[in-house]
Amino acid sequence: MLERPLEKIISAVIQRADAAHPADLVLRAELKAQRGLSREESSSISKAVFTYFRWFGWLDKEAPVEEGIQQAMALAEKFVERPDRFPEEVLRTKAIPPWISQYMDVSVDWLRRIQIEPKIWLRSRVGKGEQLERKLFRVERTRGELADALIYSGQEDLFRTAEFQAGEFELQDVSSQIVGLLCAPKPGETWWDACAGEGGKTLHFSDLMQNKGAIWATDRAEWRLQKLKQRGARAQMFNYRTAHWTGVEKLPMKTKCDGVLVDAPCSGVGTWQRNPHARWTATPTDVLELAAIQTKLLSHAAKAVKPGGKIFYSVCTLTRNETTEVAAQFEKAFPEFEPIALRNPSNVKREPAPQLWLWPQECNGNGMFIAGWQRKKV
Ligand SMILES: C[S@@+](CC[C@H](N)C(=O)[O-])C[C@H]1O[C@@H](n2cnc3c(N)ncnc32)[C@H](O)[C@@H]1O
Repeated sequence: MLERPLEKIISAVIQRADAAHPADLVLRAELKAQRGLSREESSSISKAVFTYFRWFGWLDKEAPVEEGIQQAMALAEKFVERPDRFPEEVLRTKAIPPWISQYMDVSVDWLRRIQIEPKIWLRSRVGKGEQLERKLFRVERTRGELADALIYSGQEDLFRTAEFQAGEFELQDVSSQIVGLLCAPKPGETWWDACAGEGGKTLHFSDLMQNKGAIWATDRAEWRLQKLKQRGARAQMFNYRTAHWTGVEKLPMKTKCDGVLVDAPCSGVGTWQRNPHARWTATPTDVLELAAIQTKLLSHAAKAVKPGGKIFYSVCTLTRNETTEVAAQFEKAFPEFEPIALRNPSNVKREPAPQLWLWPQECNGNGMFIAGWQRKKV
């Protein structure tokens, strides 16, 4: 049972969240504004907000929000105990909006996975996963090629730990970590992180490059690049420059690159487990508009790739329009690029393929689509 003051905060966040104000951002602002909450209280509030939206399709919309919160929490508990009580047809109609089935292949395994709480992932500095596992409590390292990816199952505020302050790890979903590993930038190379945002992948690149060479980190949102710089300072990342780029044909730099990553804006369907509010705000129009933007960003960014250089495209969504269709259009427009076979580090037994799908039920992280191409040498 939630205590009354907490329930009030939870309902306020839920009621304020809409398409223009995503629940995760409203929640973050509310937790910041509410001084004096303990770590456990903040964590209960977050859990309740996300649970509400994860089970939103089952709720009586006429009932008061407080009732909906209790109902959602009970459903979540029941699902963990007896998932068999939730038949596939019910999940198909209630867990996701009806339009999405026309845009992607919806499997029952995916539906079941997005109804449970997601894992929290950390990325240690390159080669330091084992060391970090020894330092932090309640972390578990993945073996093999993802040895620097760790799952955190504690309640502590990781941002306050000495290790985080010293730049020893970042919070980064495993699928995003896989994008960095597949790009595999080398020390001394020149890379362009075209949609760098707050720099999750720029930081990983810099670490993989041992802080040597150059990374251009660009984005449309200046405020995101400011955050990137703060994170860069904490991680002692020096081999990068930021620049404003809105996706126009004119490139932000004259240099040709060994590699380019277009981690494009997308409808975020791959994050529907972590961020269930987005299930109810994303629209088919978004998907179509974003697919056009992604195609444009990728085709403009391709001009920066030197002969023999590579370009990667990644999106945390699973719709055909934003994944295979963008890749197909790119290949048609740019025959001078050849697809790169990508090996899935979270499932190395699978044959390398030119397009990689990461599904939450398989990799324990966000859903993601990744494709890569190499510019022919002549
Ligand atoms: C998926 S996010 C990038 C996340 C980031 N790469 C990371 O790993 O932290 C997509 C980014 O694309 C940026 N963006 C959206 N439209 C853009 C455009 N037309 N040109 C350049 N960047 C754009 C957004 O501001 C956002 O930061």
